[in-house]
Amino acid sequence: MKVGILTSGGDSSGMNAAIRSAVRTAKDKNIQIIGFIQGLKGILDDKFVELDDRSVSGIIEKGGTFLQSSREPRFFDYQYRKIAYQKLNQNGIDWLIIIGGNGSFNAAHKFITESNIKVVGITGTIDNDIYGTEYTLGYDTALNTATQAIDKIRDTAYSFGRIFIVEVMGRDYGLLPLDIAFATGSELVLIPEYKIPTKTIAQKVHLYKSKGKKHVIIVLSEGYCSAFELEKELSPLLKGYSQEYELKICVLGHIQRGGAPTSYDRIFGTLSGQKAIELIVEDKNGYFIGLKNNKIQPIEIELAVKNKKSLEHSLVSLLEEISI
Ligand code: F6P
Repeated sequence: MKVGILTSGGDSSGMNAAIRSAVRTAKDKNIQIIGFIQGLKGILDDKFVELDDRSVSGIIEKGGTFLQSSREPRFFDYQYRKIAYQKLNQNGIDWLIIIGGNGSFNAAHKFITESNIKVVGITGTIDNDIYGTEYTLGYDTALNTATQAIDKIRDTAYSFGRIFIVEVMGRDYGLLPLDIAFATGSELVLIPEYKIPTKTIAQKVHLYKSKGKKHVIIVLSEGYCSAFELEKELSPLLKGYSQEYELKICVLGHIQRGGAPTSYDRIFGTLSGQKAIELIVEDKNGYFIGLKNNKIQPIEIELAVKNKKSLEHSLVSLLEEISI
C-alpha cells in the first residue's frame, strides 16, 4: 500500500514527531510512505520524497515541519483539486495522512467526499480550535513559549509600573490567549468570543492600579483586534484619570509557532502518527486522531469540519477574579 503524508497550513511544533512515528510504525506493515513537500502544493507540483527510517532521523526535537508547509489557494478551485486527485491515482497513492488545522481538515473533507483517496487526519495547530478534540498538536509548545515571553515582559512592566498590551495568536478562538493569561497571572484577557467596550477596559485597568497593582498585563487575542488599534483607543481613555498610566504594546507573533516542541507535543505527535497508521491498517477512512476524555482516539473529520469550538465565559471571569 502507498500512503502520502503532508503538513499543511500553519506549522506547529510536534509535526516532525508525528511524521517520524508514522514512517517508522508503517515499515513492518507493508506500507510505503511518500512525503509531499510544502503540503497540498507538493501534490500539484509533483514535489515528493520517499521516506524511510533514516530520512526521519534527528527531527523529533525540531520545531516547524521538515516536509515544509503552505496555504495552497489553488486547492479552493475544483479544477485544481481534480488534477490533484488524478496525480495521486497515477502515482498509486491509496491514502493521505494530512497534518494540519481547520483549513487542512476542510481540504481533507474534500478528498473524502470528492475522490477515491482515503484520508486520516492528524491535528497540527497552535490554535487548538478543531471541534471534537480537546487538544491539537503544537498547542503546549506555543503556550509555553508565550508564557516565557510574558514572564520577561512582566519584569519590565513591574520595574516601570507600566500597562502592557501583549498581542498573541489563536485566530478567532480564545483558548490560547486565555490559557496564556492564566499561566502568566495576567490581569485581563481579551478574546474574540467576548468583546467589551474599551471604556470598560480602561476602568478595569484603573481599578487594578487603585488596588495597589504595580503593573497590568492585558493579553489580547489577535482575533479581537490588533494591539495597535487597542492602544489607539485605550490611550486617550487612560488619560482621563488623575493617575498617569504608561501604556506599551508587544506583538508576540510567529515567535509562538516555532521552537523545539515540548515533551508533551513530542509524545502527542508520536502517538498520533502511530494511531494514524493503525487506522489505515483497519481501513478506517475519514477520521482524525484527537484527544477525547484525555484518550487518543479517532474522531470523524466531518464532525470537525461542520462544527465550531466554543468557550465558556466563566473562565474569563475567573481570570479577572484571581488576578485582583
Ligand atoms: O493557525 C495558526 C496560526 O499561527 C494562527 O494562530 C495565526 O492567525 C495564523 O496561523 C498566522 O498565519 P501565517 O503564518 O500564514 O501568517
